[in-house]
Amino acid sequence: MVCLGNICRSPVAEEIMRAKATHHNIPLQVDSAGTGGYHIGEAPDARSIRNAKKNGLDISNLRARKISVHDFEHFDWIYTMDESNYQDVCALAPSSQNKAKVKLILSEVKNNTIQSVPDPYFGGEQGFQIVFDLLNEACEAIIIKIKQQKEEI
Ligand code: 4NP
Repeated sequence: MVCLGNICRSPVAEEIMRAKATHHNIPLQVDSAGTGGYHIGEAPDARSIRNAKKNGLDISNLRARKISVHDFEHFDWIYTMDESNYQDVCALAPSSQNKAKVKLILSEVKNNTIQSVPDPYFGGEQGFQIVFDLLNEACEAIIIKIKQQKEEI
C-alpha cells in the first residue's frame, strides 16, 4: 500500500487489508510505504490514528518508510493511492513484469467514480473518514478477488 508520506492513507490501507485477511483466514503479508521520505520513522498522522481507532483499527504502532526497489521482489501487488504515487512507483519498477504489479487501488472497485484516494493531509478531519470508506471498499474488493482466485486453484 503506497501513498506519498506513508502517514495518512497507506497505513490505513495496510491495517484494513490486514484485518480483512485475518477475518477471512487468508495468509497475506501486508505492508505500506511512501514515495517520499519526509516522514521516515514517524507514526501515522494523529488524525489518521484517531479516525482508524473510531473505525476499530489501531495503526499507532506503524512507522513510515520509503518504498524501495526491493519491494518489487517481495510483493505480488503494489497498490497506490493516487495517480502521482502510481507514476512514481511505476518509474521505480526495474522491469515491465514488476511494473505490472503496480495498480491504482480504486481501480479494484467496480463502477468506481473516482480514480484516486484524496490526500487528506492539508484538509480537515472529515477527509480521513472519506479515505477510510474508500479504502474499506477497495480492500473488500481485493479480498473477494483473492478468495475467488484461491477457490479456482
Ligand atoms: P499521505 O499524506 O501521502 O496520505 O501520507 C501526506 C502526508 C504528508 C505530506 C503529504 C501527504 N507532506 O507533504 O508532508
